[in-house]
Amino acid sequence: MAHDQQIISKIKDRTAVIGVIGLGYVGLPLMIRFGEEGFRTIGFDVDDSKVKRLNSGESYIKHIPSETIRQLRANDTFHATSNYAALGEVDGILICVPTPLTAGESRTSAISRLPPTT
Ligand SMILES: NC(=O)c1ccc[n+]([C@@H]2O[C@H](COP(=O)([O-])OP(=O)(O)OC[C@H]3O[C@@H](n4cnc5c(N)ncnc54)[C@H](O)[C@@H]3O)[C@@H](O)[C@H]2O)c1
Repeated sequence: MAHDQQIISKIKDRTAVIGVIGLGYVGLPLMIRFGEEGFRTIGFDVDDSKVKRLNSGESYIKHIPSETIRQLRANDTFHATSNYAALGEVDGILICVPTPLTAGESRTSAISRLPPTT
C-alpha cells in the first residue's frame, strides 16, 4: 500500500499517532480533541514544567479541567515530552508554537528551535 494510503487508513481506524508541537492555548486543546477521538497523542513542549504537569494529570489552562487530562492519561492516549526524539513515533505533526506578528519580531525564536525536518 502506498504511504499516503497507509496514513489515510491509520487515520480512519484511529491507529495513527498524532504529534502536537507547542502545548499552549492552541496545541493543548487540539491534542485533547485527538485523544478524545481515540488517537494516541504525543505532545511536545520546550517548557519542562508544562510537560511535568501534564504527565501528572494537571492542567495549566483555566478552561481545561485536570480531570480531562487524567482520563486521557488513564486511557494511555496522552503523553507529553520535551524530547523531540519521540517524533519518530508519530504519523502526523501539528505545529502550534508562537509565530511573529510583525516583521523582525523576536518570537521567531520558537520556530528556529523546531527540530529539522530531515
Ligand atoms: N491563542 C489563540 O487564540 C490563537 C488564535 C489564532 C492563532 N493562534 C496562533 O497559534 C499559535 C500558538 O498560539 P498559542 O496561543 O497556543 O501560544 P502559547 O504561547 O499559548 O503556546 C505556545 C507553546 O509553545 C511552546 N513552544 C515554544 N517554542 C517551542 C518549540 N520550539 N518546541 C516546542 N514547544 C514550543 C511554549 O512553551 C508554549 O507552551 C501562534 O502562532 C498563534 O499566533 C493563536
